[in-house]
Amino acid sequence: MKLLYIHGKTGKSTLLIGERLHHLHHAIAGRPAVIITDTNLLALYGKDFPNYPVITIGCGETIKTLDTVSSIYHRLVELEADRSFVIVGIGGGIVCDISGFVASTYMRGISFGFVATTLLAQVDASVGGKNGVNFSGFKNMVGVFNQPEFVICDMNLLHTLSIQDRLCGFAEIVKHAVIADADMFSYLEKHWSQALELDSDVIEKLVYDSVVIKAGVVNRDETEKGERRILNFGHTIGHAIEKTAGFPHGEAISIGMVVAAGIAQRCGLLTEIEAKRIENLLTRFQLPTRMSCQPDEILSAMRKDKKREGEDIFFVLPEGIGKAVVRPLSLARIGQLADGL
Ligand SMILES: NC(=O)c1ccc[n+]([C@@H]2O[C@H](COP(=O)([O-])OP(=O)(O)OC[C@H]3O[C@@H](n4cnc5c(N)ncnc54)[C@H](O)[C@@H]3O)[C@@H](O)[C@H]2O)c1
Ligand SMILES: [Zn+2]
Repeated sequence: MKLLYIHGKTGKSTLLIGERLHHLHHAIAGRPAVIITDTNLLALYGKDFPNYPVITIGCGETIKTLDTVSSIYHRLVELEADRSFVIVGIGGGIVCDISGFVASTYMRGISFGFVATTLLAQVDASVGGKNGVNFSGFKNMVGVFNQPEFVICDMNLLHTLSIQDRLCGFAEIVKHAVIADADMFSYLEKHWSQALELDSDVIEKLVYDSVVIKAGVVNRDETEKGERRILNFGHTIGHAIEKTAGFPHGEAISIGMVVAAGIAQRCGLLTEIEAKRIENLLTRFQLPTRMSCQPDEILSAMRKDKKREGEDIFFVLPEGIGKAVVRPLSLARIGQLADGL
């Protein structure tokens, strides 16, 4: 097991990479606790949960709402949970986002931690202190920055994940390597096959390296005023593809990363060989890298991006492999640069 820390203005987080679900009681440390999980996790791993009351929510993006939050508040009141309690979200990004938001607002905020059970939650959603829910059709529109007290990443839980959920996590892992770590990128080029098989040494190294990158960025820019924006590599176009073409998140950001790499190449930031390496690695991870689309639809979905400021979008471009820059670009300019990619 390896430890990493986030020292944010909104709290300190201890990230336990390789810790096991059945050691969760160590992190709870004798306090009263309530577990929040989803129906899938309860069926698969409920027998390994420590003995605390469990609030179970449904699955899928559509339950990430204030209604679900409200129903959890009701249960907490019934359970007479007070400020001495710790809330533990055991699940993927959806459970983590909801339980972090509930814990941050119930009684003006009580302690909370996560057991991240999807690859995406381990390398991304559970780390960094963004908690929230969707509202009125907009993703993550209502939320807070607040660091979980602890995050447990138990790699043994990943074997029951669907292939699509695994690939979604790998898309974020490739993202981290491209923006911040050339050695990790080369490691992925050598070990993609063991990674796909969830080989324990390989996957633990990849989760650890990813969390080092994300935690480092969050430590320097917790509330996304500057550097944290590089974590959106592939996401501006990716989110638009998700919305318009209905691709799963990982697949959409894979295509988004390839388009952004193509734009970076046109801007002279990336060589043709580097852009090809990014595309090839994503292909190794069985992720799509191209789609046929109506560029106008993609641009109009990007217009609705909440990360837009005025006419410009903070667009993330890789600068070689292992580094990225953020450039304010107008939608029109992005449209020109992406033309034909
Ligand atoms: N807060 C952040 O910084 C942040 C960052 C990235 C994504 N997110 C959010 O994360 C969410 C997506 O997270 P996700 O991809 O983990 O989705 P998810 O939580 O819906 O999990 C995907 C599916 O896998 C199941 N599952 C979870 N763990 C499992 C396991 N070990 N074995 C078998 N099945 C398992 C879940 O029940 C669910 O059906 C989105 O809502 C997104 O907005 C948040
Ligand atoms: Zn993502």
